[in-house]
Amino acid sequence: LDKWMLMATARAPTNIAVIKYWGKRDETLILPINDSISFTIDPDHLSATTTVAVSPSFQEDRMWLNGKEISLSGGRYQNCLRELRNRAGDFEDKTRGMQIRKEDWKKLHFHIASYNNFPTAAGLASSAAGFACLVFSLAKLMNVNEEIGQLSAIARQGSGSACRSLFGGFVKWTMGNQANGSDSIAVQLVDETHWDELVIIVAVVSSRQKETSSTSGMRESVETSSLLQHRAQAIVPNRILQMEESIKNRDFSSFARLTCADSNQFHAVCLDTSPPIFYMNDTSHRIINIVEKWNQHEGIPQVAYTFDAGPNAVMIARNRKTATLLLQRLLFYFPPSPDHDLNSYVLGDKTILQ
Ligand code: PMV
Repeated sequence: LDKWMLMATARAPTNIAVIKYWGKRDETLILPINDSISFTIDPDHLSATTTVAVSPSFQEDRMWLNGKEISLSGGRYQNCLRELRNRAGDFEDKTRGMQIRKEDWKKLHFHIASYNNFPTAAGLASSAAGFACLVFSLAKLMNVNEEIGQLSAIARQGSGSACRSLFGGFVKWTMGNQANGSDSIAVQLVDETHWDELVIIVAVVSSRQKETSSTSGMRESVETSSLLQHRAQAIVPNRILQMEESIKNRDFSSFARLTCADSNQFHAVCLDTSPPIFYMNDTSHRIINIVEKWNQHEGIPQVAYTFDAGPNAVMIARNRKTATLLLQRLLFYFPPSPDHDLNSYVLGDKTILQ
């Protein structure tokens, strides 16, 4: 009976932070210097699907990403695999006379295949969806009997932001204060039904790979930016409380104000880093201007924008009507032209190519 194979499949979407995580206090365990809040994208859009298999005939752990084999030797993969193997449970299938005991998982090997449902070349590839999905599918396969919060602490060791992708809706990652990271976990603030009028539009400004990875960018900011220290200690704690309130009350004006301010402060920290890091480009800045002017003209915010470690704009519209107007405006300011680098929009599950 050594020809068997067990499999599990899971899907996890990416998430977008509205109060950003930037800076680690422990690089190996991936412990942040401040709390962060994000929303998880609808799983039909921008998500990873991962199938994991185990069989005694597998000689080593192997992984394929979008059909191409990648190395699992990196510390982040190894940490996730080790943590999961340590928590594996017994598995028994009486009808087939199969039994895997806890300790057997340490000797068995996995084959892992993961796909993103968005073009990797679109520059939206996110390790958040990938690691959340990897940890969740392996936890199911190995019968890991832990709360999702504890699984989030494992996903965190793959990529910090991944811990927030284990929940839908709005999610907070609490930085925690334990040295071993046991309390640096994600918690769901509200589920995806709480504020379902919001519509997300992503403007794909550049599909090129970012020049400074979030890992090295954060390290440089922690070492050189005094604004980062001020932000983590004096700004974010209050902002987190205000953001939680505005989400609870579905207060879009306050939500938009905080979201835009926090994105801008994160990019200000990047500029305050030595040497400075530029994630946004001219097109990103033009988008900010368009949204700011529109919000000012209306008197109350219609759209919030936020940018991660790259030039792509994630915009959150108050409702569907506003989203339609926003798209019209974007197409007006950025008609198909070689003069700018905005070449597609992702609205819901549709990629709108110009
Ligand atoms: O988890 P990482 O290493 O991909 O870092 C994510 C950093 C930001 O996306 C810029 C902010 C965030 O909180 O997601």
